[in-house]
Amino acid sequence: MLILSMTNSEHISWSDHWLVGLKKLDEDHQDFVRIIQSMQDANMDELANLLEKFESIASSHFDYENKLMIETEFPPRTCHIDEHNAVLKSVSEVRALISLGENKIVESLVEELAKWFPGHVIHLDSALSHWISKKQLGGKPVVIKRSLNLHHGKSA
Ligand SMILES: [Fe+2]
Ligand SMILES: [Fe+2]
Repeated sequence: MLILSMTNSEHISWSDHWLVGLKKLDEDHQDFVRIIQSMQDANMDELANLLEKFESIASSHFDYENKLMIETEFPPRTCHIDEHNAVLKSVSEVRALISLGENKIVESLVEELAKWFPGHVIHLDSALSHWISKKQLGGKPVVIKRSLNLHHGKSA
């Protein structure tokens, strides 16, 4: 699970460094950043609804990536899937605490999500994207639309 700590808030904003080269993932990730931004800007009354929306966005995005990793037998899939599950677990725990009136913890969660997102995308999601590209170049039946000119050289 995420470790929640009170930190100075730093607003997240989209960076093209986070593009991984798979259209669906890149679009989802931009949605991720948008919803985290909304939560950073929200007041306490709005946060519960936004967190519910985040949970739904995250859950369907993680399901998509998990399925992709399982179907293509992505080697480090267990670690990646565990990280997705840890995020959802933290969100679910924090949502339960909001219902008990512990609203402040949502702000901590939002800051942790903003800090977690770049590393996850750069290290784990981009590795998945490279794997899928390799599979495509190798003629495997994985159909993913690519929107960017990312070249990974000749097929391995
Ligand atoms: Fe992702
Ligand atoms: Fe991921």
